[in-house]
Amino acid sequence: MNQTKIGIDAGGTLVKTAYRKNETILYQTFSSYNLGDVVSWVYESFENPIICITGGKSQLLSEKLNDSAKTVVEFEATARGIQLLIGEQYESLKTNFLFVNVGTGTSIHHVNDMEQQRVGGTGIGGGTLMGLAYLLTGVEDYARMVQLASNGDRGNTDLKVKDIFEGALPPISGDLTASNFGKRESMIAQYPSASDILAAIIGMIGEVIVTVSSQMAVQYNVDSIVYIGSSFRSNPLLRDIIDEYTRLAGKEPFFLKDGEYSGAVGALLSLD
Ligand SMILES: Nc1ncnc2c1ncn2[C@@H]1O[C@H](COP(=O)(O)OP(=O)(O)OP(=O)(O)O)[C@@H](O)[C@H]1O
Ligand SMILES: [Mg+2]
Repeated sequence: MNQTKIGIDAGGTLVKTAYRKNETILYQTFSSYNLGDVVSWVYESFENPIICITGGKSQLLSEKLNDSAKTVVEFEATARGIQLLIGEQYESLKTNFLFVNVGTGTSIHHVNDMEQQRVGGTGIGGGTLMGLAYLLTGVEDYARMVQLASNGDRGNTDLKVKDIFEGALPPISGDLTASNFGKRESMIAQYPSASDILAAIIGMIGEVIVTVSSQMAVQYNVDSIVYIGSSFRSNPLLRDIIDEYTRLAGKEPFFLKDGEYSGAVGALLSLD
């Protein structure tokens, strides 16, 4: 029997795995806080697998796997995985684009042909959502967080340009956010609900990510921005904000299905 090859991306929050079964790539996710679960899954599911690990916790996981795994550089693996997913999902996408990995933090990369270069990033990412959500609403569970956020009204927390101009004609679109969490007077009058706060946190994160990414897109002269990372999981609010703001910035957004597994797929490909 052939030995199964497994690609693993051990990130700051989640461990993503990818392996092939009958020509299909199968995916799985674990928490980075229980690396022992990954080790058990590997040894219980496969006999003598060939493993390649990437991501910030690759060293740590590799030690737990008795150093039997190969490791690869995260940015290279992610770029490789993305190329495969893009080939399957957006064949028309040119070879010159940015990819933005919204993980625990956010990392921005320029891809030109097969070359990738990290061009920037921001500490505002999925981890910011987890942390601020906990601090401001006490909610710890990700699924509950995004579910509550879907009913939130940012009008109770965020100041829009038109709120400042009050009836006068603003010089830019009145619907743009003037100040995230800036509606202080109204919040003092009526404390916003957990749903409102969670929606506002997601809004702020999405807007910051687009602001930084779209400026990078101008700097590197690309039209397309590919967004990946587990932060988009079950989180249509984040996706919609990023989609809308990226278009407003004159760039075209792409969201890859299974994009959060790009690193794991890239690690898997490096075993071929
Ligand atoms: N089940 C989940 N548990 C925790 N966070 C989740 C879950 N599903 C989605 N997320 C979101 O995904 C984010 C992590 O994304 P991702 O897996 O891409 O990052 P990572 O690879 O672990 O981190 P990094 O690449 O920065 O080291 C979390 O911060 C959270 O916002
Ligand atoms: Mg990651």
